[in-house]
Amino acid sequence: MANGLDDVVAADTVLSDVDGSGGHLTIRGHSLAGLAGRWRYAQVVHLLFDGFFDDLPSDAELEKAIGKARVDVFDRVKPLLTQLAPLDIYSGMRAGMAVLPDGDGLADALRLIAAPAVLTPALLRLGRGETPVAPDEKADHAGDMLRMLAGIASPTLAKALDSYLVTVCDHGLNASTFATRVVASTQAGLTSAILAGLGALKGPLHGGAPGPVIEMLDAIEASGDATAWLRNQIARDERIMGFGHRIYRVRDPRADALKAVVRQLGSRNETGSRLALAETVEQAALEVLRIAKPQRSIQTNVEFYTALLLEAVGFPKEAFSNVFAAGRVAGWIAHAREQQATGRLIRPQSRYVGPVPDLVA
Ligand code: COA
Repeated sequence: MANGLDDVVAADTVLSDVDGSGGHLTIRGHSLAGLAGRWRYAQVVHLLFDGFFDDLPSDAELEKAIGKARVDVFDRVKPLLTQLAPLDIYSGMRAGMAVLPDGDGLADALRLIAAPAVLTPALLRLGRGETPVAPDEKADHAGDMLRMLAGIASPTLAKALDSYLVTVCDHGLNASTFATRVVASTQAGLTSAILAGLGALKGPLHGGAPGPVIEMLDAIEASGDATAWLRNQIARDERIMGFGHRIYRVRDPRADALKAVVRQLGSRNETGSRLALAETVEQAALEVLRIAKPQRSIQTNVEFYTALLLEAVGFPKEAFSNVFAAGRVAGWIAHAREQQATGRLIRPQSRYVGPVPDLVA
């Protein structure tokens, strides 16, 4: 039976490599550990875009161009915001991005980088009955995203969010990146390709997991017994969110990168007690999963500490997938350009297992 395309290699890429048995993530020749917390998001966008756009400026100039793109996007979507606000926050963002021009140039790419960072705070504010805050083109990307959300941005929280965006910028041929490449292979524009990625990212088996991680932590805190709660989850044949991965058989390296960021924040405020709860739940979940699924190594994935980090910087759980998209969009665009450059349509085959037609005499 064709099942989930496990182990099928569907693209050659220079962008990233996921080593599932070693627990390493390489992004254009850099280990994740060398990037997270050290490089700014704009620098990583530059790293991913290098060679895929003829007019790519220096990384400092690119950061300024991303700032201008935030303003451009805000001006374009402003008249639509009140119509988008009643939708769920992810659908609102996706619908706002759908109106952007569908070209293949750097300006198109930068609008798509800017769009989740602009739309998410604006829609969250409208949902709270507040007026959207316009972007500041001179601010750094993560800091401006927080400023548009809360009116101010602490440099510490902005740095934490920037580290998150870097950590999730690209990750091999995951479901949303594959969906993006399939659409790009038809030579549709970047907006079409990114909308495909957004559709795939939404699901709880992919980018939709961190919101439910917060719900799980709250439920376990209320129950007072992590192990009993988790065992009950397994008994009901439910998944434990934030654990398991199609490729990693060891701990997801992004989990450690994000946990380090949360730990730095935790010494400063109530994030510390949240982190203590999460560490207890993590240990209990690993033990429960080890006993319940001995045939499979199920380890902590990126979403577990994503949930803590995004909560700590001030996003509500319903917007976590939006923020994931704000980081991953860089990888999607680079993959779309890489796929377009091959000139090859992705068109696999299916095996027909349905009924045969009646033979007409
Ligand atoms: N909780 C409980 N059981 C899990 C599990 C989890 N988080 N992840 C995998 N398993 C179990 C499955 O139930 C299955 O058990 P079975 O053989 O007894 O039926 C076995 O492990 C294999 O699962 P499968 O769905 O084939 O693995 P996969 O490679 O497709 O799984 C995920 C990858 C991410 C879809 C899966 O681990 C999952 O659903 N995780 C929770 C959601 C999540 O955190 N997603 C974010 C991913 S970054």
